[in-house]
Amino acid sequence: MATRSAIINVMSRAADKAARGLRRDFGEVEHLQVSMKGPADFVSAADLKAERVLREELRKARPTYGLVMEEGGHTAGEDPNHRWIVDPLDGTTNFLHGLPHFAISIALEREGEIVAGLIFDPLKDEMFWAEKGIGAFLNDHRLRVSSRRNLDQAVLATGFPFRAQAERPTFLAQLDAVMGATAGVRRFGSASLDLAYVAAGRYDGFWENSLSPWDIAAGILIVREAGGYVSEIGGGSDMMTSGSILAANDRLHAPIGRLLRDAAAR
Ligand code: IPD
Ligand code: CA
Ligand code: CA
Repeated sequence: MATRSAIINVMSRAADKAARGLRRDFGEVEHLQVSMKGPADFVSAADLKAERVLREELRKARPTYGLVMEEGGHTAGEDPNHRWIVDPLDGTTNFLHGLPHFAISIALEREGEIVAGLIFDPLKDEMFWAEKGIGAFLNDHRLRVSSRRNLDQAVLATGFPFRAQAERPTFLAQLDAVMGATAGVRRFGSASLDLAYVAAGRYDGFWENSLSPWDIAAGILIVREAGGYVSEIGGGSDMMTSGSILAANDRLHAPIGRLLRDAAAR
């Protein structure tokens, strides 16, 4: 059994409260799919509502901490050493289309380092969380990355650069290389859950470009605390700034990195 610290309790209470609204709103989306207007405005309202709940709950529990939120931007706190990094709804396109795969992601940064992370999938009731030096957990069970060592048996996740046209040729070369070398590739549409699934050993690895800090802050810690490796695709360690990320189990991180870099150089 995992013992949750005070800070994880703050994060999980906030996520639970925001999740109640998202669950309710997701139920409505199915009805809206068939209406003329479509669900787009409704979904952006659901997103903003979840963010407001998270902001209120986190502020109530830790009034001096700063906040970085996808929709609301940066709010400086009195305490310059702590800030929350939050994506209230990661997987918006899925939500909008009635696809049941999205999450709330919350990370706590202390003096520039992520010390706690939580990713909550409200429909599957799966709460992935980690604290620096303590380990990673799914609900109450400890997480461990997969132990697969052969690329040809590995399943990797990725995200398509759907808007960034300039990134497409490199991405397609990488996808081609990975398709030829592994057992399969998935694109489920929620980067935070992609990382959580690497931590849980469901995926053996995940790579994507052009992500934002709120997509990956919690997941980076959860993967590392589950024994996995995380870097930029090029090998550097500035994922939060560049938005480039490669996360994998400890055995496959290096070979996947080589495969992706070789493909990009061709
Ligand atoms: C998106 C998802 C998706 C990734 C995109 C992100 P959003 O976040 O994480 O998997 O490919 O790049 O922007 O917009 O649903 O919060
Ligand atoms: Ca996101
Ligand atoms: Ca989002």
